[in-house]
Amino acid sequence: MTANIESIIDPQVSSRIKEIGRLSTLPQVTWELMRLLGDENTTPDDLQKVVEQDPALSAKVISLGNSAYYGLRTPATTISRAIVIIGFKELEFLALGLGLADTFDLRKVPHGFDGEGLWLHSLSVSWTAREVAAATRLVDPGEAMLAGLLHNLGQIMLVTHFTVQLQRLMNYVNEKRSFLEAEADLGLWHEAIGYLLAKNWGMPKYLQDVILYHHRPDIATGSKSTVEVVNLAIQLVSMTDFGLEHETQPADSPTYLDIMPKMNKDDKEKILEKIKITLPLMAPTWLQMMGPISGTKKPRRRTG
Ligand SMILES: [Fe+2]
Repeated sequence: MTANIESIIDPQVSSRIKEIGRLSTLPQVTWELMRLLGDENTTPDDLQKVVEQDPALSAKVISLGNSAYYGLRTPATTISRAIVIIGFKELEFLALGLGLADTFDLRKVPHGFDGEGLWLHSLSVSWTAREVAAATRLVDPGEAMLAGLLHNLGQIMLVTHFTVQLQRLMNYVNEKRSFLEAEADLGLWHEAIGYLLAKNWGMPKYLQDVILYHHRPDIATGSKSTVEVVNLAIQLVSMTDFGLEHETQPADSPTYLDIMPKMNKDDKEKILEKIKITLPLMAPTWLQMMGPISGTKKPRRRTG
C-alpha cells in the first residue's frame, strides 16, 4: 500500500510536501527529545539539559508548570522546580506539543475550520494513548504518547499549508458528502498526506505507520500494536467532548469493541472516566501552548 501513496494524492500537494519537508521541520529540541524518549538509558538529567538548551521553551515549561492544573502554592521559578512539579512524563508531553505548535500555527486556519478543536483533539489522543499503553502494556507509553500527538499530522498540514485545497474539501462536505468521501474524491486523504511528510522528515517507522493507518488498524502492515493503541485512544476521545466530527471511523473499519477485548473491561472504564475528568482540566493549559515558542502574542483562550 505504501508504494503507491503518492499516486493517490493531489499531485500539487505531494510535490509541495517535498518542499515543506526540506524547508520546515520540527525544532531541533523536539527531535532531540524524540531520540531520548526512544533510549532506555535516558536519565531525568538528560531531559532537563535538552529543555534548558532552549530558553524560550524553558520559559513556557515554567509557565505551564505554574498553571492552575498543577495547583501550585509556591510558584515554580526554575526549570528544575517546574520539572519536579509537573513530572518527567508530562514534561516530555508538553515539550513535544510545544515543538509541534512551533512548526504549525493552528491559530491561523481558514475561516470555518476549528483549529483549536484539532489541536485539543491531538493532545487528547496523545494523553489517552499513553493511558491505554500503560494499561494494556502493548507498547511503550512514551511511544504511544508521541504517536497520538502526531497521528493527525496530515490534517494539521492541510489546515496550515493547503488552505485552497482545504476550502475545496469543506465545500464538498457542505454539499452533504462525508469528510472521508470528500478526501478520497479530491486526493486529499489526510492519513497519506501526513505519512508522506513523516517519511520526508525521516520520522521513526512506527510514527509513519500510525499516521498512515490510524483509522484502519485492521490493514496496518507494521507497528500494529501502536496503531491499535492510538486507534483505541481516538475512539475513547470520541466519547468525550474532545472528539472531532470528521475523525469518525470509516464504516467498514473495526469498532472500539472489536479491538477492546485486548484490554481489561475495568481498565477501559477507568480510562474513560479518568479522561472525562482530566481532559477538560488540561484543555486551558493546552490552549495556552498554541502558537510559536518564540511568539509574543497572548494565547487565546476558549470561552465556551
Ligand atoms: Fe485522522
